[in-house]
Amino acid sequence: MTDDITTVEVIPESPDGQEGIRPPRFGRGIQQQPFQAAEPEPATPATLEGRNITAWFGDHQVLDRVSLTMEAGVITSLIGPSGCGKSTFLRILNRMHELVPSASLAGEVLLDGDDIYDPARKLVDARKQIGMVFQKPNPFPAMSIYDNVIAGLKLTGVRVSHGEKDELVESCLVKAGLWNEVKDRLRAPGAGLSGGQQQRLCIARSLAVRPRVLLMDEPCSALDPTSTRVIEETMLELAHEVTIVIVTHNMQQAQRVSQQCAFFLAAQGTPGTIIEHGDTEAMFADPIDPRTHDYVSGRFG
Ligand SMILES: Nc1ncnc2c1ncn2[C@@H]1O[C@H](COP(=O)(O)OP(=O)(O)O)[C@@H](O)[C@H]1O
Ligand SMILES: [Mg+2]
Repeated sequence: MTDDITTVEVIPESPDGQEGIRPPRFGRGIQQQPFQAAEPEPATPATLEGRNITAWFGDHQVLDRVSLTMEAGVITSLIGPSGCGKSTFLRILNRMHELVPSASLAGEVLLDGDDIYDPARKLVDARKQIGMVFQKPNPFPAMSIYDNVIAGLKLTGVRVSHGEKDELVESCLVKAGLWNEVKDRLRAPGAGLSGGQQQRLCIARSLAVRPRVLLMDEPCSALDPTSTRVIEETMLELAHEVTIVIVTHNMQQAQRVSQQCAFFLAAQGTPGTIIEHGDTEAMFADPIDPRTHDYVSGRFG
């Protein structure tokens, strides 16, 4: 699946074909200036807040007034049994839920206080600022590793001059913990990488548009323990520049990587809600609700 970046608006290349360079408009002696150059400083993490999120597929309600604040620069894990609405909640956080024809929602999503569903805001802005990594790594298989990293730029309207691309590719691969393994074969196809490497390539691709939040839906569930460990280390290193929200069924993973945690549950025949949320350590060591206790201690799920 490639729906994280194939559905956004396509911004055409500059008509002169010189990507990133604006030709001088008049007169002699006016130097060509880089056009909207990539900012050198790292992105800053943003706080994402879901307020009273209710969601439906057709007339099937799957979430009921879910509110959760995901603090800037903090890793928040979403846990709970299958089918309780974690993925739906995550997809609402970057406006992917609305891609499903039968889907509807109520409530608000605020990015540093701004409503991402405000009709005055472009869909592409939300997708650019709030990236997503899926359960199954989805690089473009025939595309080179290098081109995979920058694949999201044009689609989200981020312009980078030719010279800056090499730097951007390197820095994103470094951040994603993949650079040393691929630096000698950047022109090889993405499909040649292992599953764990492909997932890190997808993380690098997400980082290239400098998101302020990164949503990860069970990013390690298809990976072996070694690759999982590398992704977890990558997440911990990224947390200072991007807010991370991760759905995981692995209770050890939630404890290893997240500082905050929310437990979702949908009782038989009812929509999903958050039963309890807060400090991860406290939720695992001393949960308030008996259902949280049963879930984190492995009694169901
Ligand atoms: N595209 C869809 N169309 C109809 N129902 C869906 C769709 N996606 C998810 N659902 C339903 O929404 C509920 C929540 O699913 P989901 O958000 O995937 O839960 P989780 O990620 O916690 O396993 C489930 O009952 C699921 O069957
Ligand atoms: Mg899911």
